[in-house]
Amino acid sequence: MADRKCCGVSAVKVALAVLLVVMTMVCITLMALMLTPTTHTGSDPDPQNPPYLIGVGRADCTGPPAEIPLMGYANPQQKAAGIHTRLYSRAFIVDDGNQRVVFVTADIGMISQRLRLEVLRALKEKYGTLYRRDNVVLSGTHTHCGPAGYFQYTLFMITSNGYIKAVVEPLVNGIVKSIDIAHSNMRPGRIYRNKGELEDSSLNRSPHSYLNNPKEERNRYKWNTDKQVLVLKFTDLDGDGIGMISWFAVHAVSMNYTNRMVSSDNMGYASYLLEQDKNRGELPGQGSFVAGFSSSNLGDASPNIKGPHCMNTGLPCDYLNSSCPVGGTKECKAFGPGEDMFDSTRIIGHNVYMKAKELYASAVQEVTGQVRFAHQWVNMTDVTVQINGTHTVSTCKPALGHSFAAGTTDGGGDLNFTQGAVEGDPFWDGIRDTLLGSPSNQTKECHHPKPILFSTGEMNWPLPWHPQIVDVQIITIGAVAVIAVPGEMTTMSGRRLRQAVREELESEGTFKDTEVVIAGLSNIYTHYITTYEEYQVQRYEGASTIFGPHTLTAYLHKYRGLARAIAQNKVSELPAGPEPPFFTENLFNLMAAAAVDRKPENSSFGDILEQVYPIYRQGDVVSVTFVAGNPRHSGDIREKTFVTVEMYDNRTETWEVVHTDASWETRFHWLKGTNRQSNATIEWYVPSSAPSGSYRIRHFGHYKEMKGLRPVITAYEGSSDIFRVTESFYQQ
Ligand SMILES: *[C@@H]1O[C@H](CO)[C@@H](O)[C@H](O)[C@H]1NC(C)=O
Ligand SMILES: *[C@@H]1O[C@H](CO)[C@@H](O)[C@H](O)[C@H]1NC(C)=O
Ligand SMILES: *[C@@H]1O[C@H](CO)[C@@H](O)[C@H](O)[C@H]1NC(C)=O
Ligand SMILES: *[C@@H]1O[C@H](CO)[C@@H](O)[C@H](O)[C@H]1NC(C)=O
Ligand SMILES: *[C@@H]1O[C@H](CO)[C@@H](O)[C@H](O)[C@H]1NC(C)=O
Ligand SMILES: *[C@@H]1O[C@H](CO)[C@@H](O)[C@H](O)[C@H]1NC(C)=O
Ligand SMILES: *[C@@H]1O[C@H](CO)[C@@H](O)[C@H](O)[C@H]1NC(C)=O
Ligand SMILES: *[C@@H]1O[C@H](CO)[C@@H](O)[C@H](O)[C@H]1NC(C)=O
Ligand SMILES: *[C@@H]1O[C@H](CO)[C@@H](O)[C@H](O)[C@H]1NC(C)=O
Repeated sequence: MADRKCCGVSAVKVALAVLLVVMTMVCITLMALMLTPTTHTGSDPDPQNPPYLIGVGRADCTGPPAEIPLMGYANPQQKAAGIHTRLYSRAFIVDDGNQRVVFVTADIGMISQRLRLEVLRALKEKYGTLYRRDNVVLSGTHTHCGPAGYFQYTLFMITSNGYIKAVVEPLVNGIVKSIDIAHSNMRPGRIYRNKGELEDSSLNRSPHSYLNNPKEERNRYKWNTDKQVLVLKFTDLDGDGIGMISWFAVHAVSMNYTNRMVSSDNMGYASYLLEQDKNRGELPGQGSFVAGFSSSNLGDASPNIKGPHCMNTGLPCDYLNSSCPVGGTKECKAFGPGEDMFDSTRIIGHNVYMKAKELYASAVQEVTGQVRFAHQWVNMTDVTVQINGTHTVSTCKPALGHSFAAGTTDGGGDLNFTQGAVEGDPFWDGIRDTLLGSPSNQTKECHHPKPILFSTGEMNWPLPWHPQIVDVQIITIGAVAVIAVPGEMTTMSGRRLRQAVREELESEGTFKDTEVVIAGLSNIYTHYITTYEEYQVQRYEGASTIFGPHTLTAYLHKYRGLARAIAQNKVSELPAGPEPPFFTENLFNLMAAAAVDRKPENSSFGDILEQVYPIYRQGDVVSVTFVAGNPRHSGDIREKTFVTVEMYDNRTETWEVVHTDASWETRFHWLKGTNRQSNATIEWYVPSSAPSGSYRIRHFGHYKEMKGLRPVITAYEGSSDIFRVTESFYQQ
C-alpha cells in the first residue's frame, strides 16, 4: 500500500512532468507551424541533406505560324497556317552548391545540332563558362506541328525549305530566355521523385520488329512499350511546389499531318493543364509554376491507340508491312482514342497530365546528393566495339533505307514504299542513282540488310546531308540519371540503355537505388535507334537507324563510358571528342520573303468578313473572320497574341482578356487566298465553365504594302461585335 501510495504520488508527478513536456512540445510544434505555414516531409532545416539551389523558367518560343513547313511528317503540303497552341521552352536548373546542370524541354520536334550550337553560343556570350556543352541538356517534346527550318544538314534543309532565320531566332531566344528566367529565380529547394504506370496511352506501332528481340528479354517485361511515368517534384524550403518534370515514352503525333496550325500536341497540352492548375487565374504561358513533359524512348510508341486500319475500307492493315490491299501504304493509318485529332490530343494529354499530377502530389522520396554530368562528341561513322569477347563490330556512314520513305502508320509516305522492305526497288534505286549517286559497296555492306535509299553519308552537296559528330551526355542529380539521347530510341533500345547506365553507375557503390530515365530527341537529331534484332526487320524505325545495325551497340559502349566516369568521379579525364561543324557557307533558304498583302475593295485590315452571332451557349463554337495580313509580317511574335477573347466586367467597366491564341479553347486559322488576299478565322470553343456575360473577340496582326519602292509593315487590329454567352439552354 505505502509503496503504492508513494508510487502513486510519484506517478502523478511523472504524469504531470510528462504532460508539461508534451505541452511544451505541442507549443514548440505550433510555433514552428506558425513560422512555416506549410510543412512537408523532410521539411527544413535538415542538416543531413543540404538543399539544392533550384531555378525554373518558361518562355514562348513560337515561330512564324504561316507558310513555313511544319517539322515532323516531312509532308510538303503541311505548312503552317495559324495557331492551335503556342510552343514553350521550359528550363530547370539544379545546383548542389558546387556544380550545376540545366535541363530544357522545348515544344519542338527535336533539338538540331545547329540549334544547340546557337543556344550554347548565346549562353557563352551571356554567362561565360557557366552554361556549357557538358552541363546543359536540350530536349524536344517531339511535337510534329512546330515550324521547321532550324537544321544545317542538307536532308533536313530540303524538307524544311532551308535554314530559316525567322524560325531559328525565336527558338534560340525562347530557349535562352527560359534559362535566363530559371537562372534569375534560383533559390534553395528540394527535389522529390516518384513513378508509376500509365496504361491506355501508347501502342507499339512496329510490334513485328519488337517481336524479333530475344524471347527471354521480352519475357522480362509486361508490355511492348514502356508505361512508366517518372516525375521530379521541385519545391522551395517551405515545401511549396515550384515546378515539375515528367518523362513518358509516346510520340507527340496525336495531331496528324492534315493539321496546319502550330501546336504543342499531347505533351504540350499536358504541360498546359498542369500549369493552368498550379497557376490559378493566370493566362496560359504565365505564372511561376513550370511543368515540363519530356519525351523519352518513344521510337516505336504511338499515341494513336485504336491502332492502324485502312482508311478506305476500314479493314486491318497487313501486320508485317502496314499496307492495305487497295491503295497500299498511304491508306493505312492509326487513329484514336478520340473522335478526331483534337479530341485524341486532349485525351492523351489529359491522361499524361492526370498521372503526373497524382505522382507529383504523392512524391515523398527525396533526391539528395551531388550533381554530376558527362558529355562527349562522338564521330558515329566509325565506332568499333568488341562484342562476344573477340568479335568486332562497327558503325557505318549514315544512310536511310527504303522503308524510311514508307513513313509510319502515324503519317507520311505518299510514294509506293512499304515498311519491312529488305530488298530495294529497282525503280526508285534507278532514280536515286541518276539524281544523287549510288551508295558505295562498303556502305551497302555495312548497312546490310538495309536496302539503301539515300546514302546520306556519301552526299555532301551543298553541305553534308547528315551529321557525323553526335552528342552523348548524362546528367545526374543525386541518384537520378538523365540520359540525353540524340534521336528516337525504341522501347527495347531504351530499356537496354537504361540498364547499362544503371549497372555502371552502381558498380562503384556511390550510386544506389538509381532511377535512370531517357530524355529523347536531345541535342542533335539522328533519326531512330533500334536494337540489332529490330534492325533486321527493316520497318520504318530500322530503316531510319542511320549509323547501321550496330548503332545501339555503339551507344551502349559510349554511354557506359560516361556513366563509369561519373561513378568514378573521373569525368575530367574524358576526352571532349571532335567538335561538330558550324556551317557558315552554303546554308540555303528556299522561303521567299512574305508577299505584300491585299484586301477586298473598300475594306481595311481588321475589318469583319463574317460576324459573330449575338448569342451563344456554353459548348458552342464562336467563329469570326477578319480581313488579315500574313502572320509572317508580325516578326517576332513571342509573348504576344494574334487573338484575345475578352469578357466585359460590369463592375470595373473594362474588358478583361480571358483567352489568347495560346489557349486550348481558341483556334487561329490563317487562310491565304488567290490575289494575295488573306483572312483570319478565329474560333472560340466556349467551355462549360465560361461565365455568362458579354464578350468580344479581337484580332491583332500586321500587313505589308509598298509605298513607292519601299515595303512598309503596319500594325492593325479588329474586333467582333459584342455577343452574349449564356448557360446551356436546359440549365436555365
Ligand atoms: C504486304 O505483305 C502482304 C503479305 O503479308 C503482301 O500480300 C503485300 O503484297 C505486301 N504489300 C506490299 C505493298 O509490299
Ligand atoms: C486526321 O484527323 C482527322 C480528324 O481530325 C481525320 O479526318 C483525318 O482522316 C486524319 N488523317 C490522317 C491521315 O490520319
Ligand atoms: C568521322 O570519321 C570518318 C572516318 O574515320 C572520317 O572520314 C570523317 O572525316 C570524320 N568526320 C568528321 C566530321 O570529323
Ligand atoms: C554474340 O553471342 C551470342 C551468344 O553466343 C549470339 O547469340 C550473338 O548472335 C552474337 N552476336 C554477334 C553480333 O555475333
Ligand atoms: C512503284 O511505282 C513504280 C512506278 O509506278 C513502279 O515501277 C514500281 O514497281 C513500284 N514499286 C512497288 C514496290 O510497287
Ligand atoms: C561493287 O559490287 C559489285 C557487285 O558485287 C561489283 O560488281 C562492283 O565491281 C563493286 N564495285 C566496286 C567499286 O568495287
Ligand atoms: C467602293 O466604294 C466606292 C465609293 O463609295 C463605290 O463606288 C464602290 O462601288 C465600292 N465598291 C464595292 C466593291 O463596294
Ligand atoms: C477566307 O479566305 C479563304 C481563302 O481565300 C476563302 O476560301 C474564304 O471564303 C474566306 N472567308 C471569308 C469569310 O471571306
Ligand atoms: C452587364 O451590363 C450589361 C449592360 O448594362 C447588361 O446587359 C448585362 O446583363 C450585364 N452583365 C452581367 C453579367 O451582369
